[in-house]
Amino acid sequence: MSKLIDAFGRRIDYLRISVTDRCNLRCAYCMPESGIVTRPHDELLRFEEIARVVRVCASLGIAKIRLTGGEPLVRKDIADLIELLARIDGISDISMTTNGVLLKEHAAQLKHAGLKRVNISLDTLDGDRYKAITRFGKLGDVEGGIREALCAGLSPVKINCLLLDGIDKAEVLKFLALTLEDPIHVRFLEFMPINAFYKNNTAISARDVMDIAGNFRGFDNAGLQGSGPAKVFRFKDSLGTFGTIAPMTDKFCSSCNRLRLTSNGYMKACLHAEAKVDLKGPLRNGIDDEGLIGLIESSVRGKPKEHLLGAGGVEYSEYLMCQIGG
Ligand code: 5AD
Ligand code: SF4
Repeated sequence: MSKLIDAFGRRIDYLRISVTDRCNLRCAYCMPESGIVTRPHDELLRFEEIARVVRVCASLGIAKIRLTGGEPLVRKDIADLIELLARIDGISDISMTTNGVLLKEHAAQLKHAGLKRVNISLDTLDGDRYKAITRFGKLGDVEGGIREALCAGLSPVKINCLLLDGIDKAEVLKFLALTLEDPIHVRFLEFMPINAFYKNNTAISARDVMDIAGNFRGFDNAGLQGSGPAKVFRFKDSLGTFGTIAPMTDKFCSSCNRLRLTSNGYMKACLHAEAKVDLKGPLRNGIDDEGLIGLIESSVRGKPKEHLLGAGGVEYSEYLMCQIGG
């Protein structure tokens, strides 16, 4: 059981690691059209440095790791990092959040390296809308990636669908239908207003998704409450599940169990707080494990009680989503 307990009694056993701020797409809500000034390569934590942080975190009770980006699959040799992490005592779960574009060619190798499961970000099933949202992505690439992830035995395969402007009932139904005959797990995510350059006023709320699902066919949620923030349901006789994640209207901060490591080596205890603790500098200056433990504990001590989005709190972070990894 984790030894990392924050000031509000939350036990921290989950670390999300952003391995790059680069991305092969330019989703309108995530990156400005001009792209971002990506960090020079030597500002990124090296694989051995990430593995060292994870080893120390594991000694403190972190058991679950998620690799994020940017797009984690554009980081060269990412399977080598997974192999390093999979060997660390105490790490029982390694997952990845990816846009899925490169999964087709990488899924089998990632699985072999020790990746258990993937969350694929896919906000539409319409090719034109996909191109508009991602600015140049091809829906077929992601669809191929999803198939390959299933074939490679990554499990569960989840789809993160952000409730963005333009999504309608017909599209929600298409996503729901994906869960019927394949073990595909769709999560509809409420949009968080964190970037000044993208305003979202979608007509479909997390509540609406549940109404649409209810009118579609019967479902139950017996035994499907996972450990994360999603509320999860399954249609009768279907292989997959669907659910909603509602950080705005159904805040889950009180059960938050996570820390984040940014690609340039800062520990952040909350996606929405400016507080961060530099690990890269100390790592490169030869800090010992005890020193690292102290830094990680100090980050946990500074974890805020909750985000204040929509309640007059800081709305826009100095970091973009692509730099913290969601
Ligand atoms: N609100 C909620 N989720 C977001 N993501 C990106 N930006 C936002 C936002 N503003 C999600 C992406 C991806 C994950 C990394 O974070 O859809 O699935
Ligand atoms: Fe956790 Fe911060 Fe997100 Fe709340 S806002 S769920 S505390 S990361």
